[in-house]
Amino acid sequence: MACLLAGAFLLVAQTNTVHSGSSQWREGTLFQSLRYHGGIQGNETEHKSSKSQTSITSQLIPQTIIIGVRKGGTRALLEMLDIHPDIVVAATEVHFFDWDENYVKGLEWYRKLMPFSYPHQTTIEKTPGYFTSIKAPKRIRDMNSSTRLLLILRDPTERVISDYTQVYYNRLESHKSVQPIEEMVIKNGALNIKYKAIQRSLYDVHMGNWLRYFPLNQIHIVDGGALIKNPLEELQKVETFLNIPAKIKTSNFYFNQTKGFYCLRSDGKERCLHESKGRPHPVVNSTVLEELRAYFREHNERFFQMVQQTFKWH
Ligand code: A3P
Repeated sequence: MACLLAGAFLLVAQTNTVHSGSSQWREGTLFQSLRYHGGIQGNETEHKSSKSQTSITSQLIPQTIIIGVRKGGTRALLEMLDIHPDIVVAATEVHFFDWDENYVKGLEWYRKLMPFSYPHQTTIEKTPGYFTSIKAPKRIRDMNSSTRLLLILRDPTERVISDYTQVYYNRLESHKSVQPIEEMVIKNGALNIKYKAIQRSLYDVHMGNWLRYFPLNQIHIVDGGALIKNPLEELQKVETFLNIPAKIKTSNFYFNQTKGFYCLRSDGKERCLHESKGRPHPVVNSTVLEELRAYFREHNERFFQMVQQTFKWH
């Protein structure tokens, strides 16, 4: 079975990610003022811009964080936002607020992992694990209660399958055994609600934790399904939320037939996301699929009420 699944997955189109760094802007946050008053001092560097003005760049605590959800399309969102000249993005998933071993290293450690930015730019980091972390919401609020949060979600059943697919490949790579998805989702004839992939798709449960610490208007939800089909529209909503000029354009995207997804075009370069993004999913037994959908229905309804917004999930 594993071999069959692996075979099916090898239909994957292969394209590489080339990460670009660009961006600009920021608003007056607690951390900006700390920067100028020595509270959280940026490592400052002088740059001569093309207009021969001298600009100072510094590493700042992010004003915006993509908090998840894992497999929601977080990498696509980050890379697409990176096209914007007023945005700079952290290169790696930092796991500062969800991993205790990183959190104890302190804010200075965190700040130094951020890219250099000009004063008009905003810094964004993404760590998908934050959304499902019990500790992350309070820790982020403690850092800066005006941090803007971006949350990208997709149909919770699709997300389970995507999560399974990622773990499946990771296990294959490390020569570990793999099981068909049906055996992960159903245990002893019942839905295995302890399965982490299912737990992570309980958006109402996790959102409830965030809303204890942040007002709803500080959390912008990106529709991951819509980002796949029409990236520009979702990105324009993010530009509005971040209060930055609309600079991402239709010409920044082109559809790659082989990959089956939109790829990016900026600074005269074209690039698709890494091959691990947009992999074919296994065909899941229809009864199992329906069980998953039925289980999520009630949670989804609760989530829609919480966020005063609905999504076209099954
Ligand atoms: P699949 O690989 O299961 O299709 P994350 O970055 O949070 O891990 O999310 C990965 C998902 O991003 C992919 O899941 C894919 O569906 C989605 N995605 C959205 N836009 C994409 C794009 N332009 N290229 C590739 N994957 C994209």
